Amino acid sequence: MVEASIEIGADPIGRISPRLYGTLAEHLGRCCYDGLWVGPSSQIPNVEGFREDAVEALRDLPMPLARWPGGCYADNYHWRKGIGSAAERPVTLGTSCGLSVADSNALGTHEFLRFCELAGVEPYFAGNVGSGSVQELCDWVEYVNSDVDTSLARERATNGCPGPGHVRLWGVGNETWGCGGNFDAAAYAQEYLRYATMLRRIDQDIELVAVGQEDDPLPESGLDPEWNARFLAALGPNVGLVDHLSVHRYWVHGGPETDFDEADYYALLAEAEATEALIERTVRTIAAIAPPSRRIGIALDEWGVWHPEARDWGPGNVPRRTPATFEQAGTLRDALAAAVALEVFHRQCSVLSMANLAQTVNVLHALLVTDGAACVKTPTYHAFSLHSPHIGAQAHGTQIATDITLPTGHAAVSATASRSERGAAVTVVNRHFDRAIATGVHVADMAVERARVLAADAANAVNSPQIPDRVAPRPLEVIRTPEGEFTFTLPAHSMATIEFRAARGVP
Ligand code: AHR
Repeated sequence: MVEASIEIGADPIGRISPRLYGTLAEHLGRCCYDGLWVGPSSQIPNVEGFREDAVEALRDLPMPLARWPGGCYADNYHWRKGIGSAAERPVTLGTSCGLSVADSNALGTHEFLRFCELAGVEPYFAGNVGSGSVQELCDWVEYVNSDVDTSLARERATNGCPGPGHVRLWGVGNETWGCGGNFDAAAYAQEYLRYATMLRRIDQDIELVAVGQEDDPLPESGLDPEWNARFLAALGPNVGLVDHLSVHRYWVHGGPETDFDEADYYALLAEAEATEALIERTVRTIAAIAPPSRRIGIALDEWGVWHPEARDWGPGNVPRRTPATFEQAGTLRDALAAAVALEVFHRQCSVLSMANLAQTVNVLHALLVTDGAACVKTPTYHAFSLHSPHIGAQAHGTQIATDITLPTGHAAVSATASRSERGAAVTVVNRHFDRAIATGVHVADMAVERARVLAADAANAVNSPQIPDRVAPRPLEVIRTPEGEFTFTLPAHSMATIEFRAARGVP
């Protein structure tokens, strides 16, 4: 007897763009340097300076998009310092999130583009508004993308890339309401107009990402909840210069990273779910100002859990880790929160144009953690991996019938589904802290191709170099009932993906 029954909606919601599975790769702590990048002379096996194991893991995932070089780092990054002979590059001051570090510039534009080639990633460059200039960013776009025989294009060729890079996504600053310059919305709009107008003249094919803001910032931040409305309104008839509006969302109400209790556990999952309300409100703000003919996508280009141990701001009654490394434990709970967010992204795939988990390696809600020669896949890596069958497919809604609810009022089981010419896939989350749930899904005329579950004995389980697979996908037993329902048992705090392929003649 199933306790939760899932139906897949007949009508597609929209295509699940690979861009919804992006990440942020910032020069912050050990994300890029000593995470992705160890340098060509490292003892750690590497491909042209990038850790072989990390590149392979990310390519396998896949990780289709990465935003670089920041974050806050972007507004103090000067791209010319990171091109040309590595030996001659200057050591500059890299700054982000209160850190100031010596930056060798060894990982620059060419290297990052090479990483993207190796790992099958679309690059998204965050431009410098805070300490840069319109000319500097125009030059970067010309250097990377131009197919006209200019001095900058020749310099690119001399540095190893004869052809244009075709980088489409360019951010005009990062968090310009804060670390990116402390602008107010109207002042940023004036800057944005200059940048966007001139960037479009350099390359008409690029997509520009303007800096927006969450409309419910923490009260103590003093940020303007009306930023998006004021910024878009100030652009007036030139609002069409915005292709994507960036909004960031960090979940900060889940208590300690590992020593959380049941209430904290549910609070984090509820916060992940509430990301949907932020997206919906942002859609309404855009619709109220931009003409219907102008589609502005929402770029959730930083999202994820930011535990109190890894920050010196916001809620959380725990000792803060000093000096700040921005590294935190990544538990199964974090993976389930990511899975809840991915359900949201599918439901919102017609308005959400990209999403970037913050961050990629070692820092914050990372996919991978490195420790010397070891490169460990976090539970969140596996949550993404369970989602890979959905990438590029058509999202379909799901209806869940269950009497089992959580203290937050949500149904204990949630799901997302997709269909493609390959078949169908359903990813199901059992959000219950301590109860296994017998679950069924109705899928007509299909047979199970593969079924995997991500579970562990405790919601705070982590992977480590010593036990790298404590939280890793395992085969899930799925039984087809005579009525044609596919049934399985989801352990407490777990998620699973069942992949179906068309089966003609299934009785
Ligand atoms: O991801 C860490 C930081 O969070 C980024 O640098 C910044 O954009 C955000 O505040």
